[in-house]
Amino acid sequence: KHQVIYDTDPGIDDAMALWLLARSPAIELRAITTVFGNASVETTTRNALSLSTLYGLKLPVAAGAPKALAATEEGDYPAHVHGEDGLGGLAASAAPANELLDPRPAHELICDMVNAEPGAITLIAVGPFTNLALALQHDPTIVSKVKQVILMGGAFGTLGHAGNVTPVAEANVINDPEAADLVLTAAWPIVVVGLDVTQQVVMDEDYLSSLQGRGGKVGDFLWQATRHYQDFYSEVAGIRGIYSHDASAVAYAIDPSAFTLRRGPIRVVCEGMARGQTIQDHRNLGLPGGHPGRAAWTGRPVQQACIGVDAARVIEI
Ligand code: BDR
Ligand code: CA
Repeated sequence: KHQVIYDTDPGIDDAMALWLLARSPAIELRAITTVFGNASVETTTRNALSLSTLYGLKLPVAAGAPKALAATEEGDYPAHVHGEDGLGGLAASAAPANELLDPRPAHELICDMVNAEPGAITLIAVGPFTNLALALQHDPTIVSKVKQVILMGGAFGTLGHAGNVTPVAEANVINDPEAADLVLTAAWPIVVVGLDVTQQVVMDEDYLSSLQGRGGKVGDFLWQATRHYQDFYSEVAGIRGIYSHDASAVAYAIDPSAFTLRRGPIRVVCEGMARGQTIQDHRNLGLPGGHPGRAAWTGRPVQQACIGVDAARVIEI
């Protein structure tokens, strides 16, 4: 079983992925850490605590970063995607399990758990990667003690289009590009589950309505929470359904054989109009760092990016 810390900004698809984590026999969920992103960190933390009540979870929930590493103040939140309350208007449907709130900041909980069980913990991060970056800054030795890092974020353009916030940038990455670059260039084993695959995994209207009735009170909740999210997707992407972003990262942990991976160092553009773009050097040329442009790539850890997916299998999971 994967021993998982789930770093999240719930978020409607985050809530769906949490249910998958809670119910998969392949996963033992150990803690939830929250970050700003789909809403403020106050809101995403309250949502994680409310989802804990609704899902019957008894795990520590640690609140994390309110803003990006380089930000001086909090930014705006995408209420048009996830609703003002981050859960499509349904946040109030369960009382927050406040007794589960851990006194430590998220990055400290991550470092403590990883140090207590070297080699055991898998980090699944599906919001901006600020907490992971803070954990690396707090204790750089964790890179050799984490079993695996699975990130939902980024876009490599293999579908012919790329970003969902700008033409090249995906939301979790552009919300904190400096943190994403720090995390992606650290020497821990990363798999990136980006838009290249998550936009192929569509939960269509039939699938979503089948949750209602079939899935008890959680099924009803998820069906209702996805109404708002689905309206956004039908308007913006022209699909009758939703992209399954965060749950696809969890599905990778459950069945990696459903994904095709590409190897190479990954960097994040931190300046200019391409800010937030993820680039993987998959050319495998082994070039020396002589050219100034190459110094950014030479000697960087080789990471893995998902470029293909068996979408039907992920929906089945
Ligand atoms: C990612 O951004 C958030 O809106 C979703 O929860 C997901 O983690 C998709 O780009
Ligand atoms: Ca998310």
